[in-house]
Amino acid sequence: MARFLALDQGSSSSRAAVFDTDGHHTAVVQKPLPVRFPRPGWVEHDPAEIWHTQLDAARDALLAGGSATLELSGIAITNQRETTLVWSRRSGAPIGPAISWQDRRTVDWCEARRAEGLAPLVRERTGLVIDPYFSAGKIAWLLDHLPGARQLAEAGELAFGTVDSWLIWKLTNGAVHATDVTNASRTMLFNLERGAWDPELCERLRIPMALLPQVKPSASYYGDCEVLGGNVSIMGVAGDQQAALFGHGCLLPGQAKNTYGTGCFVLLHTGEEAVASKHGLLTTRAAQISRLKEYALEGAVFDAGSVVQWLRDEVRLFTRTADIEPLAASVPDTGGVVLVPAFNGLGSPYWDPSARAGLLGMTRGTSRAHIARAALESIALQSTEVLLAMQADAATKLTELVVDGGASANNLLMQMQADLLGVPVRRPANIEATAFGAASIAAHTTGTFQHAENQDLDSTVFQPVMSRDEAAARLDRWRMAVGRVGGWA
Ligand code: G3P
Repeated sequence: MARFLALDQGSSSSRAAVFDTDGHHTAVVQKPLPVRFPRPGWVEHDPAEIWHTQLDAARDALLAGGSATLELSGIAITNQRETTLVWSRRSGAPIGPAISWQDRRTVDWCEARRAEGLAPLVRERTGLVIDPYFSAGKIAWLLDHLPGARQLAEAGELAFGTVDSWLIWKLTNGAVHATDVTNASRTMLFNLERGAWDPELCERLRIPMALLPQVKPSASYYGDCEVLGGNVSIMGVAGDQQAALFGHGCLLPGQAKNTYGTGCFVLLHTGEEAVASKHGLLTTRAAQISRLKEYALEGAVFDAGSVVQWLRDEVRLFTRTADIEPLAASVPDTGGVVLVPAFNGLGSPYWDPSARAGLLGMTRGTSRAHIARAALESIALQSTEVLLAMQADAATKLTELVVDGGASANNLLMQMQADLLGVPVRRPANIEATAFGAASIAAHTTGTFQHAENQDLDSTVFQPVMSRDEAAARLDRWRMAVGRVGGWA
């Protein structure tokens, strides 16, 4: 039985586990990753903390699994996407913070690029919209704000990477500067159809191509790991959402998943067709495991689990994440309260970086429970909007939604999701789809892949029970509330 060490570097933690090709895995080791908010709308990590938390998680996962590195068939990397790092090729030292995908400091940069008329070109070449979410603006910010950075970049002295590239660089002791197609497709610099960096876009966005990593298929040999002892190679890399799509076995056109993490990311596999969205979704690359280019439509919701964290840590509405479920369930509805959690602006389908969060519809009788319930409902409502847009774009009817991610453990939220969508929601007992997906991709590279299905006879299925009229009324009220918070900042 082949075994893989899967590294899952996320927005709030670095995780690791050892998987076999049947999907069995050791306990997932999780190390919290500090996040900094130096100014309103700014979100950063320390590159060294990304590396050290991930390395610690990897070492502990090997210990917990009793696995010597020698017994591994490979390492798989999956990661929060878009988050941007730039470092010196000579010293390996980062020139600044890792700017998170959630960061909104590049709103003006994006506005200026739109004013130059670049939106259609960006859409056509990359499948994306011009938004602070993607890496290009973050790279430009680092080059323009850190003294001397632009000149060094032009001289080929600096390297850009999303988190996967950073981890590959560190694991190979600076020998390899590479990324995979799924991560590249989130930078706003990658030509989806050609499967390569787009020189014209790089020039118009003033990003020196000397910065960019080599792009490889997700299932590839990336290089030898020099830091975990033993002789083991990196055999698979994919952005976390594409890895989860793969891990759920959504490999055919029409199959979709939703991951409830910090944000919510709905991906629908569209096979070898790059479907252009007319409803505010993104066209992106699915994991590439052969020579075939495969695509997905994506709805990116920026704030989902983060709403629960915010209520827990900042508002102190409850002390443990799990407390939100009984609190929200203690009232039959939100009492007319709508929470729009646009802390980082709004992603799909609105793309409004200036929207800010709002709590609307409160009366003197509004309680903690109503607010907790409105928070959960906001997660389900945002996902519903994205899934409706997806069905319109792909002209298909969803028959079931498969889910994973931390917040998918919340039964009330899953029931709300089924009710608002009007289709069953299936939650596999094993919700580690992301890390398993990455391990499966690596298993393809080594020729030990067995199946990609998160074969799970113990799935929990949530059937819709709400009337369609009631669901439509809640969606209408939600849209009204979104209209109120748009353009706020
Ligand atoms: O696009 C951002 C996404 O990859 C982040 O995922 O799970 O770290 O919230 P997560």
